[in-house]
Amino acid sequence: MKHCYLIGIGPGHPDFLTLQAVDAMRRVDVFFLLEKAGRGKDELTALRREIMRRVRPHGDYREVRVPSPPRPRAVDRDGAAYRAIVADWHAEKRRIFAALLTRELGNGDSAGLLLWGDPALYDQTVSMVQAVVAELPERVGVTVIPGISAVQVLAARHRIPLNRVGESVQIITGREAEQVDPGCVHNVVVMLDYNASFQRFVGQDMDIYWGGYLGAADEVLVSGPLDAVLDELLRVRAALREQKGWLMDTYLLRRRESPEVDAGDDG
Ligand SMILES: C[S@@+](CC[C@H](N)C(=O)[O-])C[C@H]1O[C@@H](n2cnc3c(N)ncnc32)[C@H](O)[C@@H]1O
Repeated sequence: MKHCYLIGIGPGHPDFLTLQAVDAMRRVDVFFLLEKAGRGKDELTALRREIMRRVRPHGDYREVRVPSPPRPRAVDRDGAAYRAIVADWHAEKRRIFAALLTRELGNGDSAGLLLWGDPALYDQTVSMVQAVVAELPERVGVTVIPGISAVQVLAARHRIPLNRVGESVQIITGREAEQVDPGCVHNVVVMLDYNASFQRFVGQDMDIYWGGYLGAADEVLVSGPLDAVLDELLRVRAALREQKGWLMDTYLLRRRESPEVDAGDDG
């Protein structure tokens, strides 16, 4: 029987690997690396390879690198068009996973895919691999190893919990942040935001806790009342994009508490 480990590696630094991730990486015969094209993607592939070398310093594993189909720019499209574009992209990725598991993995061998952050958050690799495995004529076991997500690192770096007592927290995309009613937002984490959607929330009594390249050596943090830090944030984001050619950022928007609410500790 073949086996496939889907391993969460955290958001940008080998120190975020869990012991379980290290253990799974040590069992792997071959690592599948889906390489994205574009500025910054080399850096992300290099980081995965550094993690592999750190965990397997003797290099006693195989590495299969395949180009990852580029994510089509669908963020500006309406719901149905967006879903259709993403569905095509996923179908292409499933074909790649099927080919890798069939042709590049020997019987009795294990493959590893290193997934950014936590595999359960804005990453459909788990469901794609599950769908592929269900269709294959041979048996392939699948194990998912959770990882530390960018969201957790954001909260840790800003030394905040994600929610206050008795409140909930939502995690949404930049695309949703452009549509949501700002009046309904209390604690919302925004990921995959290409358009600085936090600008919509100005004048809403919000604080923002923003992090770029979280966990990496060039991590940048900005926080404060949104209205007060907006210009700084726009400047910082533009400068970082200019310098590096790419930016990965995550932020929490939180409605400021009215003074009578008790923000005590519920442990
Ligand atoms: C496709 S999602 C993957 C999320 C990942 N599974 C996780 O658990 O963090 C990519 C988005 O995650 C966020 N992200 C991932 N790594 C990050 C980092 N090092 N710093 C800031 N945001 C990051 C960004 O919002 C980015 O657009």
